[in-house]
Amino acid sequence: MSIEIKKGLMGVTVDETSISKVMPEINSLTYRGYAAQDLCANCGFEEVAYLILNGNLPNKKQLIAFKKEERADRKLSKSLIKVLKQIPKKAHPMDVARTAVSVMGLEDKETFDNSPKANMRKTMRIFAKTPVALAAFYRLRKGKKIIEPKKNLSFAENFFHMCFGKVPNKDIVKAFDVSLILYAEHSFNVSTFTARTITSSLSDIHGAITGAIASLKGPLHGGANEEVMHMMKKIKKPENAEKWINKALDNKDVVMGFGHRVYKSGDSRVPTMREYFGKVAKIKKDKKFEKIYDILEKVMIDRKNIYPNVDYPTGPTYHLMGFDTDFFTPIFVISRITGWAAHIIEQHSTNKLIRPLAAYNGSKYRKVIEISKR
Ligand code: SDX
Repeated sequence: MSIEIKKGLMGVTVDETSISKVMPEINSLTYRGYAAQDLCANCGFEEVAYLILNGNLPNKKQLIAFKKEERADRKLSKSLIKVLKQIPKKAHPMDVARTAVSVMGLEDKETFDNSPKANMRKTMRIFAKTPVALAAFYRLRKGKKIIEPKKNLSFAENFFHMCFGKVPNKDIVKAFDVSLILYAEHSFNVSTFTARTITSSLSDIHGAITGAIASLKGPLHGGANEEVMHMMKKIKKPENAEKWINKALDNKDVVMGFGHRVYKSGDSRVPTMREYFGKVAKIKKDKKFEKIYDILEKVMIDRKNIYPNVDYPTGPTYHLMGFDTDFFTPIFVISRITGWAAHIIEQHSTNKLIRPLAAYNGSKYRKVIEISKR
């Protein structure tokens, strides 16, 4: 009897979720029923983080309390700072994020408590501290002093402040905030599924998020935003773009920032992020990357009918904001922690051990021969 294998679990529905859905009737990604682009237009990232974690948009009082808790949880322990100082400067910041969350798990007083309330408190600590740890490493590897978080700054403003020592103008901050909203959650993507799989053995949230970070790092997933930038830097100028992309397609190369397992005619987050990329490019008086962006996109659609995913516009946007390229995927992390945590809490509430089957294609039964006779 032949077994049908769904490689990469393509098209397989493995569980239910109430957190997000790409709704075909409005052609959009929705969080808890709200379209991501409407959230970008009307809310700040903290409001959306609250929505993803709690199921409803906050009222004023709830938002104030949520922000207060996040800001109060930002401070890193002395031992975590010591670990960050010992990490090789050449380490990839995604590995630093993974290590930082792992160290937080060693120190957290509630590591072994998987109750929904304890998980929410731990989520807030991971959510608040991970950007602080990443920004500290951003400075340390440049030989600069760590900048302390500030309680009067929003999540997005504070990240700029801790990396660069200043907060840019409000339009740049808004573009960054929008990118965080768009990156926050995307159902059963590979890193979220990793987190749910780890959770399904009743393991803890720090372990699940550490695993999710490792999964997000790969260039077929979150790591694509960095690869997009490497590609654009290689292309150098718009005049080279058409020749470069045609050659890549002739060679059957994978072009980073394009294609998606779920979206086959365009990622619904891209138009919003493309608009904010344009705004940032205008502020920075840069035309080069937008021109390269448009040429590659046109050829990919014309020749392959393959559309950009969200990592395509975020790459050059973060570059123009001044971030080092290897910090692009860590920025994805600081946002996606909200989605991962919501899924971990959901998995705990309806848990069933995730343990699929495999069709064995190895050797037939063999007798063990003593080593001197092999
Ligand atoms: C994210 O799942 C999520 O929700 C993820 C995410 C999230 O928010 O969590 O949206 C974030 O991970 C976005 C994806 C970032 N990755 C990249 O940009 C890497 C480049 N993209 C691809 O490698 C690819 O499109 C995937 C991995 C994203 C999806 O791959 P699938 O669904 O396994 O499809 P496939 O690789 O089998 O491709 C199908 C066909 C192939 O051609 P044929 O062999 O059928 O002729 O499409 C071609 C592929 O070669 N193709 C591409 C391509 N993407 C697909 N060809 C060139 N360049 C590409 N980018």
